[in-house]
Formats: sequence, C-alpha cells, structure tokens
Amino acid sequence: QKNGFPHFMLKEIYEQPKIIQTVTNNYLNGNSASELKELFKDINRVYFIGCGTAYYAGLAAGALMEKYFPQEVKNMVASEFRYSEAKVDEHSLVIVISQSGETADTLAALRLAKKRGAKTIGIINVLGSTIAREVDKVFYTLTGPEIAVASTKAYTGQVLTLLYLLHYLAHLESRIGEEKYRAFINAAQQLPGQVTMMLDAISKVEDIAKKYQAVTHFFFIGRQLDYYSTLEGALKLKEIAYIPSESYPAGELKHGPLAMIDEKTLVVALANNDNLMMKMESNIREVKSRGAKVLLISTSRQLTEVSDDFLQIPETEEYLIPILVNVYQQLLAYQMAKLLSRDIDKPRNLAKSVTVE
Ligand code: F6R
Repeated sequence: QKNGFPHFMLKEIYEQPKIIQTVTNNYLNGNSASELKELFKDINRVYFIGCGTAYYAGLAAGALMEKYFPQEVKNMVASEFRYSEAKVDEHSLVIVISQSGETADTLAALRLAKKRGAKTIGIINVLGSTIAREVDKVFYTLTGPEIAVASTKAYTGQVLTLLYLLHYLAHLESRIGEEKYRAFINAAQQLPGQVTMMLDAISKVEDIAKKYQAVTHFFFIGRQLDYYSTLEGALKLKEIAYIPSESYPAGELKHGPLAMIDEKTLVVALANNDNLMMKMESNIREVKSRGAKVLLISTSRQLTEVSDDFLQIPETEEYLIPILVNVYQQLLAYQMAKLLSRDIDKPRNLAKSVTVE
C-alpha cells in the first residue's frame, strides 16, 4: 500500500497537498464556529498540550493565539503538564493535540484538566480514539492513517486545523478584520499547489543531503515562529537518521552552544521573518566564521550570499510558514536517513503510539 513509494514516510509526505485540501474543505466554512465561541466563553487561560511533534504543532498555534487573543497562552509537554502545578480551573481551556488519540501522557493530561474543571478540546486524527471520546469537543485533522513512525502529514493537519479554527474565531469576535481573514484563507488555498511545487524539488534536497553526508551534527536555528519549526526539524533528523541535531533560538548561540560549532556542523538557518533578517544574518556569520556550513531555508533571497545552500519558501501568510518549512525539513531528514540506510519507517527504539508512560 505504499503506492509505489519506497517508504510509507515518503508516501505520507507526498500526501500533504491532498490533506491540506481536505482540511480546507472541512474547516473553511466555519461550521464549528458557534460551538468554538461557546467553549471560549469565560476562559482566561488556554493550554496547548501534546507530546513530540503534536506539542510542536501546538507551539505554532499558540503563537497565533498570543497575537490576537486576550487570554494567557501556555504550551506544555503532556508529561510535564500532568505533574506540574499548572493553574488549571474552570476558566481554563485545555487543547490536547494527538495524532493517535491514545498517547498515555496526553490522555493523563486531559483527565487531569477535566478533573480540575477545565473545558477541553481535542485536535485528533484517529476517529473514535480514547482522547477523541473524552474531550468536550473534538476537531478531527482528517489526515488519514499515518503508518510511518515519524509524524509528517499529521503535523500539517494539526497546524492547519488549529489555524483555521483560531482564524475563524478571531474573525467572529472581531479580533481580526475581514481583510486579514481573507488574506489567510487565500494563502491557505494556495498551499496545496505550493507544497506540490516544493515536493517536485526533492532532487535538490537529495543533492544537499549528499553534499553533507559526512556532517556529524546538525544545528537548527531560527527566531520566533521559525524557532518552533526548528524543534520539529531537529526531532525528525534525530528520529529517523539518528544524527545528533540541536535546535536553538538563534539568539542563544552565544550563550553556550556556539562552542560546539565546527567544520563538521551543518547549520540549518530558518529566516522567514523580515524584521529579524539582519539578526539572522549576524547569526549565520557567527557560525560560518567557526567553520560551519549553512543551509538557508527562507522566503527571501536576502541571506543567500552568506549561506552555502538555499531552499526557498514560497510567499505565504506568516502563520502558514511552519507548514511549508516543515516540508523541506521532512525531505531533508528522509534523504539523510536514506543515505545512511536507516530503517526509515520503523526507527530503532520507537513505537508509533506511546500508550505507556
Ligand atoms: C515524531 C512523533 C512523535 C509523536 C508523539 C505524539 O515524529 O511521531 O513525537 O508526535 O509521540 O503522538 P500522538 O500525536 O499520537 O499523540
């Protein structure tokens, strides 16, 4: 059932244009808006909870929420949340994100939140899964079965579902104007074509992977939303290629990690925020002068001169950038793992669904 692809992971990466279309068809009309509005009533704190990739998807959505909504926003890893002193009460809304809907820590976090009187939402892929059944309201990500252990298309479904819901609510509550709302919708509708175009450039990513085959460690750096994307980029490389990969807010380099940078390092620099371009330029110069090579992933060509390789992100709306960046990151991890002959669909020591603590 790999449809001619050598691995499920690659098949699932290539399913993303279709998934984006499905999510759009389902959430574009804002059917769930009134329910959503009800759930947000009297809420002063919103938690986004998940594990691994699902937690990272929540970070991207949390950033959007922070910008447009008055509520306090907190992102927490489920295994931390469940043992924390987090202030969760009847004025809290807890949004749990899970592909499988069965992850033990996420389920425990959900149950704790409910016990403390919080309202709960699930952003879930597997229909009828335990978490889907236990939340007050489930929004399905409609991603279809994900077989490869490494999560790819699930992330895209999670981020996009959350972005649609939050944009719709923000529009409904007049937190964003008609123009901004339309701009988001239009940009989202262009995503399938843009992702297809990026996937067509897979051989370029393969060439980059070959060029850096001997690299002993990766550093992913970025600022703001890009920083959140670096977390997923580094996780994917660790997970399927077993290459030590760090992820840092670019401004943190000087505070310690710069000591690790040498000529065997590949720095993947994400630079998709116009206001922070100059900051990223100085971070790139910083690592280059220590001998590192730099792969730039950016919407702009501005920093290509100071970088060794470049993958261009198509023009889109700010909060959709993580989805596009991640497509390249998925391809990069896949190609590195392939070159190293890793067991791509079933990486060592990992299970698809983590139903024990
Ligand atoms: C990474 C990966 C994991 C999962 C995490 C949560 O590629 O697959 O980090 O994202 O185990 O799983 P779900 O979403 O099923 O709760």
